[in-house]
Amino acid sequence: MSAEQKIIVFDTTLRDGEQAAGTRLGVREKLELATQLARLGVDVIEAGFPISSPQDFEAVQLISQEVSGPTICALSRAVEKDIDSAGAALKKAKKSRIHTGLGISDIHIASKFKDDKYGKTLEEKKAKAIDMGVKAVKRAKQYTDDVEFYCEDSGRADRDYLFKIVEAVIAAGATTVNIPDTTGYSIPEQFGKLISDIINNVPNSKKAIFSVHCHDDLGMSVANTLAGVAHGARQIECTINGVGERAGNASLEESVMAIRTRKDFFKVDTQINAKELYKTSRMVSDMLGIFVAANKAIVGANAFAHSSGIHVDGFLKNPLTYEIMKPEDVGQPKSAVVLTARTGRHGLKHRLTELGYEVSESELEIIYQRFLDVADKKTEVFDEDIAALVGDERRTTEQVYELQYLHVASGTGTLPTASVKMKVNGKDAPVTAAACGDGPVDAAYEAIRIATGQSPKLDLYTIKAVTGGKEALGEATVKVIDKDGIRFTGRGVSTDIIEASAKAYVDAINRMVSKK
Ligand code: KIV
Ligand code: ZN
Repeated sequence: MSAEQKIIVFDTTLRDGEQAAGTRLGVREKLELATQLARLGVDVIEAGFPISSPQDFEAVQLISQEVSGPTICALSRAVEKDIDSAGAALKKAKKSRIHTGLGISDIHIASKFKDDKYGKTLEEKKAKAIDMGVKAVKRAKQYTDDVEFYCEDSGRADRDYLFKIVEAVIAAGATTVNIPDTTGYSIPEQFGKLISDIINNVPNSKKAIFSVHCHDDLGMSVANTLAGVAHGARQIECTINGVGERAGNASLEESVMAIRTRKDFFKVDTQINAKELYKTSRMVSDMLGIFVAANKAIVGANAFAHSSGIHVDGFLKNPLTYEIMKPEDVGQPKSAVVLTARTGRHGLKHRLTELGYEVSESELEIIYQRFLDVADKKTEVFDEDIAALVGDERRTTEQVYELQYLHVASGTGTLPTASVKMKVNGKDAPVTAAACGDGPVDAAYEAIRIATGQSPKLDLYTIKAVTGGKEALGEATVKVIDKDGIRFTGRGVSTDIIEASAKAYVDAINRMVSKK
């Protein structure tokens, strides 16, 4: 990859990312994350803002000492004491960068430099800001050759003034110039043009690399980052999972994978080892306590999950029909066909085959109808549910008795009662019966005994949840003993445990009578 084609990835999870409300990382956690960022292959790690706290200073110092590979960067305002603190914290880094700068939009200058010492008029204050920027770059140069200057709030800045300050800081020695859309105000088309306008209008622009640093207030941080790249920016500033101040920063995983997947369009790439993306995302989510939404691009739990009939069908024929990246390319567990009420027969059959079941078309139809019943009650049908359904279906021998209807009433202080309607020997007219019992299952069993005229002794009864969650399938197993002392086992599966219990008892009775 030539220098022109390489996009430098500047990760600011440890600095801007940690500015996300309610988060705070310990020094050791920061070191662990910086080590993972190095494994991920980022070019620059912004490790912190040393003047802001002793812990930040210590973290930058420790990361500088321990982490090799990426350039270690520290943030500072365009203020001497900040720059000196950054320089001191970075002392042990093999490659170091100071990132200094100031607010350059009229609103920032007018509001932050109110004091007359910065000048009386806005124009005087703006001239003073250029002077401060130049001095800051020169001071940072005393610590490292690699100095980045940020023009905060560039997205809302006066363009001619922005061109002027950029020219001045490059002349002072800034090697990278950061054009942040600090407030997430820009529109991609406009932001992209801003980058190419700077490159085309600033006379010494060729001497620096332009960086984009976009916030997500209007949900356009990644789009603006990519527009910047398309218009000549060669560094992108991002955070893992897009964490950061307010609505956050451009997400590293989305920006990097957009550039890689659409190399045909951008004609550039990064050196990120994308297989580490998922792991890094989990680490950041765990450390900061900020969940990753299931539908989050690249690293979300559903990013490679297919559910609807049409999609599953297409995906199984050729994954490229519905996937533009492979999950393993970003370190995600493999694509998943999630079985839900929208899954078609093809998706179910595929899963059955994966689980080792060979089913005929007629068997598939029966299992599919039962699967739909379960899927209607549960958000997701798991492999264990399917195994239980198949087992339940395959165990059914001759259906002398078929449970058509079951109603049970029970509760504290009431006598448990059950009524059943059963089809006998396939006859149209059902047999009905009602009974009381010690509990709802006992009442149901008594009603079944009356309806069938069969009263084997109950030897064993167990019920277990097949999967987790309150809508889990319950699987009941019963053993009955006939009058000759022979045991018969019956099983029943349902999301309703009383129904599962009744089905298991009827199954055992059917086995008993069909044997005879
Ligand atoms: O958003 C911003 O402008 C910043 C700067 C400090 C680079 O985070
Ligand atoms: Zn920022």
